[in-house]
Amino acid sequence: MAAEKRRVVVATGNAGKLVEIRAALADSGLEFVTAADLGAEPLDVAETGEQFTDNAYLKADAYRKAFGMAALADDSGLVVDALGGRPGVRSSRFAGENASDLDNTRKLLEELDGFGAEMRAARFQCVVVLLDEKGAATWACGTCEGQIAFAPRGSGGFGYDPVFLPDESAGYTMAELSIAEKNAISHRGKALADLREQLLAED
Ligand code: IMP
Repeated sequence: MAAEKRRVVVATGNAGKLVEIRAALADSGLEFVTAADLGAEPLDVAETGEQFTDNAYLKADAYRKAFGMAALADDSGLVVDALGGRPGVRSSRFAGENASDLDNTRKLLEELDGFGAEMRAARFQCVVVLLDEKGAATWACGTCEGQIAFAPRGSGGFGYDPVFLPDESAGYTMAELSIAEKNAISHRGKALADLREQLLAED
């Protein structure tokens, strides 16, 4: 009989992230479930940290304690050199609390108005943490280097994808890539690949 998989609750209400996590860690020996799978609402965890690591940990630990089981969380955002690293941990609320992706993207383009191509370097960063039942952590991270475009292009992905030109995508914005193409080069894809390697090395 196959060994029972260890269950891990994923600290997100974002269905897209869950699909990515399940696909990237399919052979990790872990089964990923959501709060909804456990008959509960997603937790509303305040992301009060100043670093991606702080917020990933806050989310994973809140889920671990609430559900009494291993938990996985990620935190990610866009870091723009010419803006001193902003929006960073405030990426989802750059244009204000409850700002839409469009509001945030517009604000970013406004702040970079007049900046030439050589001033538009940026990167997406992602930190993932897996906490076991007792709170022992396995950390992983990934970065996707690129530039902020002068205008939005493409309809795929989410967030800042229409204005992010990854160095590895030959002039296409992240929003012009297929999901598979994005996952192969994205910060989250790289962080999950890093975590997978660590989990497989443990076995
Ligand atoms: P969180 O990791 O869900 O807290 O995401 C923070 C914010 O960073 C998102 O709301 C987006 O604005 C931005 N972000 C993170 N990952 C991506 C991505 O893959 N594409 C575009 N924007 C992203």
